[in-house]
Amino acid sequence: MFNPDILNQLHNLLGDEGLRTDAASLQTYGRDWTKIYEPAPSAIALPHSTGQVQAIVQLANQAGFKIVPSGGRTGLSGGAVAAQGELVVSLERMNKIIEFNAQDRSITCEAGVITAQIQQYAAEQNLFYPVDFASAGSSQIGGNIATNAGGIKVIRYGLTRQQVLGLELVTGKAELLKLNHGLVKNATGYDLRHLFIGSEGTLGIITQATLQLIRAPENLTVLVLGVPEFAALMQVLTRFQASLDLSAFEFFSDRALHYVVHDKGLPKPFDTPTPYYALLEFENDSAGREQAALQAFQDCLEQGIILDGVMSQHQTQAKALWRLREMISETISVYTPYKNDLSVRVSQVAEFLQAVDQIVAERYAAFEVIWYGHIGDGNLHLNILKPAHMEKAEFFEHCTAVNEQVFALTKSLNGSISAEHGVGLLKRDYLPYSRSPEEIAYMRALKALFDPNQILNPGKLLN
Ligand code: MLT
Ligand code: ZN
Repeated sequence: MFNPDILNQLHNLLGDEGLRTDAASLQTYGRDWTKIYEPAPSAIALPHSTGQVQAIVQLANQAGFKIVPSGGRTGLSGGAVAAQGELVVSLERMNKIIEFNAQDRSITCEAGVITAQIQQYAAEQNLFYPVDFASAGSSQIGGNIATNAGGIKVIRYGLTRQQVLGLELVTGKAELLKLNHGLVKNATGYDLRHLFIGSEGTLGIITQATLQLIRAPENLTVLVLGVPEFAALMQVLTRFQASLDLSAFEFFSDRALHYVVHDKGLPKPFDTPTPYYALLEFENDSAGREQAALQAFQDCLEQGIILDGVMSQHQTQAKALWRLREMISETISVYTPYKNDLSVRVSQVAEFLQAVDQIVAERYAAFEVIWYGHIGDGNLHLNILKPAHMEKAEFFEHCTAVNEQVFALTKSLNGSISAEHGVGLLKRDYLPYSRSPEEIAYMRALKALFDPNQILNPGKLLN
């Protein structure tokens, strides 16, 4: 815990409103959705300005305490966990939308703005913020940028990185950096903005961002298709992509569907039982596009690569179909899943799924396995559920022992052991499966450059 002198200095800086040390706050702000790690922060700082963030980082450098930058704490890799007596710096009070520029189609906001608020604000301007995922109602834009959040629309619009036109941040040396200033084009050398995107709070604390908004898509239409086997999934993708620009291509297994149907009471998409489901979304803005979708549907049925399917007829139905996919993570979270977040190139997904399936059959024979993911962009979420009778520690030990095989397979295909959830604490020791020793050495050098006293998010990403 902090000595009274540090607490006094923080209090002088932040006032009553901006500093918390009560047990409930330490519990709440010290953890993310990973839930594996026991939170143990020393205090919670809630700055309301970039100046205050700078002053906190300055003080940390002088006094020698560590900081865990904190957004909506919806992460799944322990990136926002404070388990070592750190100061959590929550950006939640910095939640203002500062500027909207209609001509640039951009929005500038503070880091603590909730993702769904940005989506909502964009919609009010008849525009669209395309980064979306189930936790959009709680996650904050600063955290999204720090983890380069992905989600369900990556296949069409890319990751958070693609939307960031400018960044304001405080480095580990307490310097203020304003990067790229909202420019679309800027060929003046190293683009530091991109270094901070996805850096998981290890190089700086993001305080403001300028984001690109885009044309709002019209009449998004959703198909849920029943697929007989893994091998058919990517064939379905190829057939649909031959005539449509998809804005999503997700998949989930019948066990995943079982949980959202039984635990959440969601209606099944259709009665035909199928082992896998694909969820596709496209912009249905002309009769031609709908015709193309129906033709692809028909072709897939004839080829036997789908067994049944449904297409939304209105927005309420489209939303209801989306819930079948979006509710999976939250629904299974009560069964203490061991989560894998893997990716390979799209062209290798079919081969990868087959090989992962073999490992699963051998090593997880006695466990329930839930498959889902954004496989249209190569991202597989493989979740193993803890048997009710097994102790958490024993369960995680077993799953960790399988990591080596899954990650070695991923490495053999030059894939990623963390496609979108980040490295944090959970994947840190496995980084060499996806990054070469030379890359890791450069990453360490960058850490030393921007945060020489190792103040920011210690132990995350790099050890
Ligand atoms: C999802 O795709 O649902 C999220 O990444 C969360 C998860 O993997 O559980
Ligand atoms: Zn995901």
